[in-house]
Amino acid sequence: MRLDKMLSGLGIASRSGCREILKAGRVRLNGEAVKDPGKNVTEEDTILLDGKILDNRMTRHLMLYKPAGVLTAKEDPKQRTVMDLMPAVYTSLGCMPVGRLDKDTTGILILTTDGDLAHRLIAPGRHVDKVYRAQVEGTLTTEDVDAFEAGIPLKDFTALPAKLEIIAPDTGLVTVQEGKYHQVKRMFGARGKPVMALHRLSFGPLALDDALLPGQYRELTEEETAALYRAAGMTDE
Ligand code: URA
Repeated sequence: MRLDKMLSGLGIASRSGCREILKAGRVRLNGEAVKDPGKNVTEEDTILLDGKILDNRMTRHLMLYKPAGVLTAKEDPKQRTVMDLMPAVYTSLGCMPVGRLDKDTTGILILTTDGDLAHRLIAPGRHVDKVYRAQVEGTLTTEDVDAFEAGIPLKDFTALPAKLEIIAPDTGLVTVQEGKYHQVKRMFGARGKPVMALHRLSFGPLALDDALLPGQYRELTEEETAALYRAAGMTDE
């Protein structure tokens, strides 16, 4: 990758701004001053800007504890998005949410710079388990459990069989493999039990880290990243 592309990808400045920075002699590459914006670089290179080492990993994978009240989107002209909860470098690097949680839904949201990974994880044929805690209006019954297991008929499709475990009269843990628009809310709605609060506890092999508070994020560990690539049917490079 060109050096100016890497620097702008890391959010240092625009491409032309990065060329100015290079021209001013503020960058060192593997210990040598470098001014050539077209110099070929990789993540293995050590790059210093104004004497400070840059974290030049271009691929990142994160888990965010999505709070209520923010949109799952890369950007929005009016409303706060999940990207606003994280340093701008992640946006510069092209990080994107994997699938979508409704504005009022809380819990684990995976974000990645790897578009292929993101798309494969949410592809219709790839049945990645997602576990939600749903608090509903009304009382959950074994008939609801059976209906979820049989596959709830909705207006435009019949949901795949889902597991419902009742953990309190009005609260269930539901495991779904699809991720259609408002899916969990629609499934409970079809049972006449509207969802009052929805929280995602896990996405595929990854559970929401207990140490995170709403609005906090962390990068995935190597093991978690490998597990995610496996869940996507991709090998981890
Ligand atoms: N199902 C929903 O209805 N909403 C979400 O945010 C996620 C799954």
